[in-house]
Amino acid sequence: MFDLATRRIIGATVLMLVTVITIGMVWLTEEQRMARYEALHKAKAIENGAFIYEQYCSTCHGPQGEGVPGKGPDLNPGVFRHYEELKRTQNYANSLRNFIKLSIAAGRPIRSTYRADEVYAEPMPTWSQEFGGPLRPDQIENLVEFILNWQAAGAPPTPTPAFEAVGSDLTRPLPPGDPQRGKALWDQEVKQASGVPASCKACHSLKPGETIVGPSLAGIATTAAQRIGAPDYKGQAKTPEEYIRESIQQPNAYIVDPNQFAAAPGVSKMPATLGNQMSAQDLADLIAFLMTLK
Ligand code: HEC
Ligand code: HEC
Repeated sequence: MFDLATRRIIGATVLMLVTVITIGMVWLTEEQRMARYEALHKAKAIENGAFIYEQYCSTCHGPQGEGVPGKGPDLNPGVFRHYEELKRTQNYANSLRNFIKLSIAAGRPIRSTYRADEVYAEPMPTWSQEFGGPLRPDQIENLVEFILNWQAAGAPPTPTPAFEAVGSDLTRPLPPGDPQRGKALWDQEVKQASGVPASCKACHSLKPGETIVGPSLAGIATTAAQRIGAPDYKGQAKTPEEYIRESIQQPNAYIVDPNQFAAAPGVSKMPATLGNQMSAQDLADLIAFLMTLK
């Protein structure tokens, strides 16, 4: 049917096809093998990361990365707020992976300049050996995989309750306050309606005479009455309740002992933005609680 030459060509073609297919199949399984190996490697890294995290990080960032008020921000929100903020405000061009890696390796300042309302008792330590910390590069990598894995899983949907901030408006009528809920807000066992803790406790002790960033609020109901009676008082408040309210919504209206507590002339070290993080109910409850401190 075919002459010899044609048969040879067909034979060679078939042989070539078989070879190509065989190589292709070996290559495919190799590809799968690599993928499986990489998945395993990644799983192992995440597992190691979880272990290191529990040892070194959970005290400040919470066992589930939920954050610890006054100690460290949440790392498991699905969105890295600081990273998003940097990208938005400072044209930050690094990847999220590098951002996380660098934050861990080199540590971070005590307070993000771009998040003035967040106050932490201690700065984020430096962790990599390169910067004098205890962790090896591979351990840092494991931590990065572990934290990125939270991001991949995504955040549980956070319900956004109807929230209207009370801001700095001192004339807005407040609902009746509940001192117990106020105490809970103070302790931050309960987050505010906004979901943002106001961290009063990070700056104010309730032990008499103990100064953190701000003065102790032990006996503030009594102190408040003295403040508005003093000749140097320049604020609007007529009652202790009003004084406490003004202190929270407009810290700059009257600054206690400016030598100690002013960040700059006329500017309190207490953030003037706390009213933006609380509802009228939150504010009323906090005032009701502070009024029990006689
Ligand atoms: C002593 C408390 C403390 C410990 C322990 C700690 N951190 Fe932090 N961490 C912080 C604080 C405070 C910040 C925020 C600093 C700032 O305001 O910029 C932070 C920031 C971060 C950030 C950046 C978060 C963001 O949204 O910008 C990452 C990532 C991080 N920490 C990971 C870790 C890991 C991983 C460990 C364990 C190896 C760890 N931290 C241990 C206090 C801590
Ligand atoms: C970043 C630190 C910081 C945070 C957070 C903070 N404060 Fe203050 N607070 C200060 C400082 C500093 C002063 C003293 C200067 C002044 O009068 O503004 C002060 C003053 C006050 C006073 C007046 C005290 C007095 O002796 O007259 C009250 C009341 C008060 N704060 C309540 C609160 C409450 C409630 C919160 C939480 C919602 C809060 N603060 C959060 C730093 C802080």
